[in-house]
Amino acid sequence: MVSELTIQRPNDMHLHLRDGDMLKAVTPHTSADFGRAIIMPNLVPPVTRTDHARAYHQRIMAAVPKGHAFDPMMTLYLTETTDIDDLVNGVKEGLIKAVKLYPAGATTNSDSGVRDVTKIMPVLEKMAEINLPLLVHGEVTTHEIDIFDREKVFIETVLDPLRQALPDLRVVMEHITTKDGADYAAAGNENLAATITTHHLIINRNHILVGGIKPHYYCLPVAKREEHRLALRKAATSGDPRFFLGTDSAPHTTSTKENACGCAGIYSSLNTMSCLTEVFEQEKALDKLEAFASLNGAAFYGLAPNPQKMRLVKQQEPVSYPATIEVGNETVTTFDPGYPLHWRVENLD
Ligand code: NCD
Ligand code: ZN
Repeated sequence: MVSELTIQRPNDMHLHLRDGDMLKAVTPHTSADFGRAIIMPNLVPPVTRTDHARAYHQRIMAAVPKGHAFDPMMTLYLTETTDIDDLVNGVKEGLIKAVKLYPAGATTNSDSGVRDVTKIMPVLEKMAEINLPLLVHGEVTTHEIDIFDREKVFIETVLDPLRQALPDLRVVMEHITTKDGADYAAAGNENLAATITTHHLIINRNHILVGGIKPHYYCLPVAKREEHRLALRKAATSGDPRFFLGTDSAPHTTSTKENACGCAGIYSSLNTMSCLTEVFEQEKALDKLEAFASLNGAAFYGLAPNPQKMRLVKQQEPVSYPATIEVGNETVTTFDPGYPLHWRVENLD
């Protein structure tokens, strides 16, 4: 039985750090365990221009504790009026690493998102030309489509036609939650990849709804049936280079989640690597953890693995993480996998 494992320092290829007090509170948890993270741009107002991203990058770096090797990889929020020259300059400067597409109204702070895909074709053509990845929140927002079907319908009606129209565009299907998503990504070419969160490998929709509503398990895309969770586990532990970790850690205060209209988002940065190792152990795939968490994502973005290493050590006594962290006068509730964690994380040089 394996009780110790050393992997290259991981990367989180989909992360929400927010701003202000929240940014200061959560950034150290990511920078402790991850060498890089793809930073989501859905602030209020969203990060739509290179100068916004540059200023945000500085605020993030100011929140990284001394001694943490951490590279926040900045993204721009795609709108129907994205300035192509500004984007190209941001890429040339080495600051902008990808562009995020939110269908308008799909999720938290997505009101400025895209309503009409034909309006963004010129930006997408430019991105295909300069090899800049498009990160998609893959859910339709048409009100007559059931929330549990929105990912599948997005793939059929938006993503697939888009990829056919622009085969050279590099696309990441962010936080896939369905077997349909996993199958579509696995059937794709080298221009397609998909991130998978830690929590979607652990919870299905029953965790949210059975025995009372559990707002801390609510996120978007919402967790689906068990068969989908199992398909995600298979994809994540397959070693297939198209699948990699994007935690989608998305902190909201406890009071805005435990609310009559609770926010979508799960805060998992603090204990993700311990949770994830447990999942890979359950799947008898500890040898695939490094590919999923540390190698595949970096490779898709054309980067070498981080030079540092992480050691994961299995211990008898459960590893404990705080159930909440403090942010100003509020708290943020940490993801609870629902079982004790036994893998301790040690960051090495
Ligand atoms: C994210 C957030 O809170 O910013 N919420 C979530 O449920 N994942 C937005 C997103 O990634 O959809
Ligand atoms: Zn997200």
